[in-house]
Formats: sequence, structure tokens, C-alpha cells
Amino acid sequence: MSEPVPVLTFDGPSGSGKGTIASRVARTLGWHLLDSGALYRLVALGAARRGMDMADEGALADYAAQMAVDFEILPDSGEVVARLDGEPVGNAIRTEQVGNDASKVAALETVRAALLQRQRDFRQPPGLVADGRDMGTTVFPDAGLKIYLTASAEVRAERRYKQLKEKGISASLAGLLREITERDVRDTERQSSPLKPAADAIVLDTSALDIDQVVEQVLAWCRDRFAVGGQ
Ligand code: DC
Repeated sequence: MSEPVPVLTFDGPSGSGKGTIASRVARTLGWHLLDSGALYRLVALGAARRGMDMADEGALADYAAQMAVDFEILPDSGEVVARLDGEPVGNAIRTEQVGNDASKVAALETVRAALLQRQRDFRQPPGLVADGRDMGTTVFPDAGLKIYLTASAEVRAERRYKQLKEKGISASLAGLLREITERDVRDTERQSSPLKPAADAIVLDTSALDIDQVVEQVLAWCRDRFAVGGQ
């Protein structure tokens, strides 16, 4: 039997630095990247554009199963372009409204089930870096290295504030802190695949670390676990 394609999972709450770190590590290793949060955001955006009811579980699950999405990695910048119905979505999936709707649709068991195989299909050679909430617990339970990134709610709200500002999206720090706290409760307390570290995950608190420090630490673990990543 051939060796399974290696997987590195990043789980943790919004603003823990997962997205940035996962994409930097994927580029360094030359592995594929799954931004699973983008899939939930695309369900929320597509459903809103169709005027669907965010509480209609059956309709949302059907939509999640058949929605036309694809991701393209731009070779020069490494930036990921997400498309819905063939059109790039740009920052439309990054608004707080879509994030809140995504958190609601992500609590629906049948929506999660509809997205499961779509996520597993990203596991292609030479390897996959998977970023989300349940990558190590549910989607890739056999991943070779599982990392759970966390940070205090205050630090996460500040990071998010800066990120949105850089993208030209306006937001209030107090509002972001409230939304992050509410989203944490919803993500950790839901019945289906709640946000929590896998039993075999390494937990890393990034509150006092910068991105370079976290990336270095993760690459050291990757060299150890997968025998990749240079030096
Ligand atoms: O990471 P993000 O903010 O883009 O994720 C958007 C929402 O989707 C977030 O509220 C949690 C949910 N999500 C999830 O439930 N499971 C995942 N694997 C990824 C995201």
C-alpha cells in the first residue's frame, strides 16, 4: 500500500493567527492549503445572495453540497482566489456579517456533513496544510502533525482590527471583541464538531509571539515529524 499523503492541521479560534501561519507554512513546504473557514463563508455568502433563510438547515445543506466553488493559488503572490459560480468573491467573504453567518451555518450538522468530502479532496501530493476548527478532530483525524493555536480574546480582536483596517474594511475594536467572544461560545459549545484541540494536538498560545516566531516553531516541528522543510 502507498503511503498516505501527509497532512498538517491547524485548529483554533478566529484571530489566533492560523490563517496567516498556515499559508506561510504551506508555501515554505510547497504543500497545498485548505482554508476550510472559506468554505463555510462561501456557503453563507452564496445563501445570503440567494435570499435563503439562515435557519433553513435542509436548504443550506443542499446548497453546501452543490455550490460551485473553486480556489486558485496565484503563482507569484501565493494569494488564494476563491470563486463562487465562477466569479472571484474578493473581500466579500471576509466581512463581519458573512463571518457571523458562517458561524451559524457551521453549527448545522448537515452542512458540516455536506462539506466533509469537499475538504478531504484537498489532500493531494506532496502534502496538505489544513486550516480550520475541526481539522485534527474530524476531517483529518490521521494527520501526522496537529497544532492548536490560541491567543487571548483581546489580542485576537486587536489582530483582526488591524487586518480589516489594512484591507480597507472599517470596524470597531469593542464590536470585534464582542463578536469574537460570541463566536467563540458558539464554536466551542455547538453539538457538531465543536472547536477543541484534538487529544494528540500540540497547543501553542500565540498571544506573546509574532508570526515569524510561530512559523519558525512550526517548521521545526514539521522537520521533526515529516522530514521536510530544509535545514
Ligand atoms: O476561520 P474563519 O473565521 O474563516 O471561519 C468562519 C466560520 O466557520 C467560523 O465561525 C467557524 C466556522 N468554521 C468551522 O466551524 N469549521 C471549520 N473547519 C472552519 C470554520
